[in-house]
Amino acid sequence: MSSATRTGRADAHTPPLGHRALTPLYDLAIAAMTREKTWRAALVKVMAPSPGDRILDIGSGTGSLSVALSTACPRIRYVGVDPDADAVRRARQKIVGLEGNIRFHEGYFSAEEEYFSEPPNKIVSSLVLHQVPLAEKRRIIVQARKALAAGGSFFIADYGLQRGIQRLLFRSTVQTLDGVGDTQPNAEGIIPKLLESSRFSSVNETERLDTATGTISIYVARLTRCRQSDGSA
Ligand SMILES: C[S@@+](CC[C@H](N)C(=O)[O-])C[C@H]1O[C@@H](n2cnc3c(N)ncnc32)[C@H](O)[C@@H]1O
Repeated sequence: MSSATRTGRADAHTPPLGHRALTPLYDLAIAAMTREKTWRAALVKVMAPSPGDRILDIGSGTGSLSVALSTACPRIRYVGVDPDADAVRRARQKIVGLEGNIRFHEGYFSAEEEYFSEPPNKIVSSLVLHQVPLAEKRRIIVQARKALAAGGSFFIADYGLQRGIQRLLFRSTVQTLDGVGDTQPNAEGIIPKLLESSRFSSVNETERLDTATGTISIYVARLTRCRQSDGSA
């Protein structure tokens, strides 16, 4: 069971690979076990990074997505936010020498925080929601909607609904590392439901990729051009 689940506190985060000591192995494990090249490329494609984009990455980890996005389009502005000091340090090392406007912020994402001079037009989160408690999944999604510029989009790549053999693979890998409590709602398909109840104007699952650790889905939630009034917390 993860520390976050045990305490129920949003500030007791689960490290990238479930345990602090495993963080140095994170990049290797993700590459070997999740068909990373395929899902990251699909995520970058659907995000279509363009010059001037303000991209906020919630739970940016060791910075791999920042490299993929800025390689695809060096003229984006990117801020990665993550509560794990070791992951942020590794992310900062990874971008040394890379062209572009890339920054990392150690801490929890909040819509109250100003990461850019204007609201982000694209927010992304990859492999984060499956490893946080249900209340934190909901908070991140509601806050992302609040933080997004009008007309903006929220992209999620993460373990979604698990069916058949994929459910067994998910149980024997991700759920062993990250615990059942935080991960089970993802396996039961909670992510699109949370997006829909947070009143995005459209929610679509654009990709479903079977891996050795379970099915990874990509969801795209969009806001209309006019900012809707926000009754949610
Ligand atoms: C599995 S890693 C994914 C990292 C990265 N997004 C990627 O695609 O490789 C999950 C990350 O989420 C971070 N995290 C854990 N709890 C979080 C929370 N409540 N809010 C934001 N990030 C969190 C962890 O520190 C970790 O770096």
